[in-house]
Amino acid sequence: MFRRKVSLPASDASPLPSHIAIIMDGNGRWAERRGLPRTAGHRAGLESTRRVIKESVRLGIKYLTLYTFSTENWKRPAAEVEFIMSLPGEFWRRERPALEEANVRLKVLGDINGLPLATRHVVEEAVAATQNASGLTVSLALNYGGRAEIVRAARLFMERYGIMGNEVDFATGLYTAELPDPELLIRPGGERRISNFLLWQLAYTELFFVDKLWPDFDGNDLVRVIEEYRGRSVRRGGL
Ligand code: IPE
Ligand code: IPE
Ligand code: MG
Repeated sequence: MFRRKVSLPASDASPLPSHIAIIMDGNGRWAERRGLPRTAGHRAGLESTRRVIKESVRLGIKYLTLYTFSTENWKRPAAEVEFIMSLPGEFWRRERPALEEANVRLKVLGDINGLPLATRHVVEEAVAATQNASGLTVSLALNYGGRAEIVRAARLFMERYGIMGNEVDFATGLYTAELPDPELLIRPGGERRISNFLLWQLAYTELFFVDKLWPDFDGNDLVRVIEEYRGRSVRRGGL
């Protein structure tokens, strides 16, 4: 299960990114193009999620953050929302042995109090069950919005540091407090926007927009993006 399908260049290349963030977009269009209900696209997207987690484990990535449901996605029809909210539970029940075997730690970013109770319980269970895993950390952004996160962090900042705090202090109030900023953001689905994802954390992230829809994205696509990332020069404001 952990063997590499595609080899990355030798170690003289720039290092692997430690944190990859993905906006998993295009499920609905994938289904519509096949004359299927949008929910079929979300189910197919779950398979992509499984494949990309597996590939990330194989490559030795430390952090993978997946935009699963935004604070704006509540505007969708109730039946679609309900279906999406059932997927974390389906995923956990089915993939638990493989995730544990791969030493994957699950984490949730976002306001879990706003989730349906069953979804909230299952994600809490998954987070608790995997909390001591030391391999890949998979963070699911669920009921997540970048602006809401910044407002929440601002509130915590004022409580903890008052007006004298700095950027590092501010970041302790983000959902991602214990994670490094992503080196790499991937958005499949063809749109070239951030859609309220990790607004603070993406300040210096390399952005990759991929035209493939999320259900068509696989481990080889992930490797290709990482290869391209390693070829880009990362200066972060320096020379
Ligand atoms: C992403 O796929 C999944 C969620 C936002 C939950 P979409 O459902 O946005 O798919 P498109 O963009 O409509 O094709
Ligand atoms: C972003 O996709 C949110 C997730 C993938 C969870 P959307 O489909 O909701 O974003 P927009 O509507 O294209 O901005
Ligand atoms: Mg979309």
